[in-house]
Amino acid sequence: MARAAGRGFGSLTGIYRIGDGKPEDFDWVRDLGHRTMLSSVSGLRDAEPARVAESFDRLLDFAFGHSHVLLVARDPMERLGFVLFLDQLPDEVTGLPQAFVAYAAVEPHARRREIGRGLFVAAEAEARKRGLPYMSFMVTEENVAARELYAQLGYQTERRQLCKRL
Ligand SMILES: CC(C)(COP(=O)(O)OP(=O)(O)OC[C@H]1O[C@@H](n2cnc3c(N)ncnc32)[C@H](O)[C@@H]1OP(=O)(O)O)[C@@H](O)C(=O)NCCC(=O)NCCS
Repeated sequence: MARAAGRGFGSLTGIYRIGDGKPEDFDWVRDLGHRTMLSSVSGLRDAEPARVAESFDRLLDFAFGHSHVLLVARDPMERLGFVLFLDQLPDEVTGLPQAFVAYAAVEPHARRREIGRGLFVAAEAEARKRGLPYMSFMVTEENVAARELYAQLGYQTERRQLCKRL
């Protein structure tokens, strides 16, 4: 289990710290997003990677252009993962305030070291500090790693996005 000490986390497989992302992290966030975004593409759609990359860039540009929180996990050598959430985007159905996670990812070589879990625990703490009563986001059905992580953290399915090939 990860141990929390402020925003420092240690696990059996290494020590890392979670801190606020800075503008100099933005290029790495975009790059890690480009390297991992296909995990959010379902088998229902014949997606072209170049178009998925464009959509990801639009998402990032939107998030960076609005009020957001970027948390980055790093060890002394390198950046390991990030979570990016919007803190002023209310739930579209209820209008209630929430933290809306735009994207999160961990470097492939650093996975299964509880970094993803640590990032979400830290993001939830940041959201609570801002008085946001919910954390919400979308996840693709086939993204087993992400769904398992979110289930472990206590997230429940609120709505479903349906799709049919025509
Ligand atoms: C999803 C992701 C962020 C998880 O990061 P991570 O640091 O490897 O996750 P953790 O080590 O904190 O895993 C916590 C738990 O999640 C579950 N989990 C994580 N990866 C898993 C996998 N590949 N298969 C099954 N369960 C997995 C496990 O229950 C795990 O606990 P355990 O290791 O004690 O069994 C990472 O796989 C990733 O970056 N994926 C690509 C980008 C992505 O899909 N982002 C989410 C978009 S919604």
